[in-house]
Amino acid sequence: MQIKTVGVLGCGLMGSGIAQVCAAVGYKTIVREVDDVTLNKGLGRVTKGKVTPEARDKTVGNLSGTTTFEAMNDCDVVVEAIIENLDEKRGVYAALEKVVSDHTILLSNTSSLCVTELAAATKRPDRFGGLHFFNPVPIMKLVEVVRALTTSDETYQTVFTFAQSLGKEPITAPDRPGFIVNRLLVPYLLDAVRCYEICLGTLEDLDKGMKLGCGYPMGPFTLLDFVGLDTTYYIANIMFEEFREPVYAPPPLLKRMVVAGRLGRKSGQGFYKY
Ligand SMILES: NC(=O)c1ccc[n+]([C@@H]2O[C@H](COP(=O)([O-])OP(=O)(O)OC[C@H]3O[C@@H](n4cnc5c(N)ncnc54)[C@H](O)[C@@H]3O)[C@@H](O)[C@H]2O)c1
Repeated sequence: MQIKTVGVLGCGLMGSGIAQVCAAVGYKTIVREVDDVTLNKGLGRVTKGKVTPEARDKTVGNLSGTTTFEAMNDCDVVVEAIIENLDEKRGVYAALEKVVSDHTILLSNTSSLCVTELAAATKRPDRFGGLHFFNPVPIMKLVEVVRALTTSDETYQTVFTFAQSLGKEPITAPDRPGFIVNRLLVPYLLDAVRCYEICLGTLEDLDKGMKLGCGYPMGPFTLLDFVGLDTTYYIANIMFEEFREPVYAPPPLLKRMVVAGRLGRKSGQGFYKY
């Protein structure tokens, strides 16, 4: 299947990055938001990155924004990156399916919802999959291609090749909570909080230990503050609910920091102050 036009639903943190990489490599890209104010804010983010003027012109030339679904009728692939809410996602799929072609592949950038359940909410469960990008999208090389139980081999192959065409390095992940990266990363971050709770070391020493001892680009508490403690707490709860294994259970301190509003960088304070 030849992909010419890509649609992106949502122009928030992830949607704007996804739209940017699609337009930058030459796909005609159309991104939908709920209103003009949010759309313009999202599109503004696309033009802020450090790129040459030529590259920026190419990206901007391929990119357009809309607040309607009708404008997306031409899309061969649509990547959904709206808020992490099952009912909202169901709603946009229903509206989108009224206008797109039969051949259109629908992908979700969800971090935590069940991809098979999202696929089942559409009329095209075989042409549905997960395409999980990492933040910041234009910089992070990895994408996880997530196969729902119903994703056809043809859809999977097309999506894998599409991810490569964006200059990304795809890996294949099953539809299980956390896919591959968060399945490994979340227990590690939760364990770091447990180590801090039992006073294994100071925040600085625990971070320094993992950074310099393991060659990680940043320690677990710097990373937790970057990702957001609320996001980590939310994902850990989903993983624990599904697997019922203690490694995924959020430690008491994490919950208390979230309810106290210490969410990390975005709130000005997490494990560190900003
Ligand atoms: N933030 C991350 O690090 C990250 C990483 C990987 C995946 N994800 C996933 O990506 C998705 C988006 O996350 P985000 O961080 O960009 O959130 P965000 O809040 O920054 O952006 C979501 C955007 O979706 C828009 N939106 C809501 N309803 C909509 C609708 N009906 N149609 C079009 N747009 C709509 C909102 O106006 C908002 O701008 C979620 O599914 C999330 O789990 C996030």
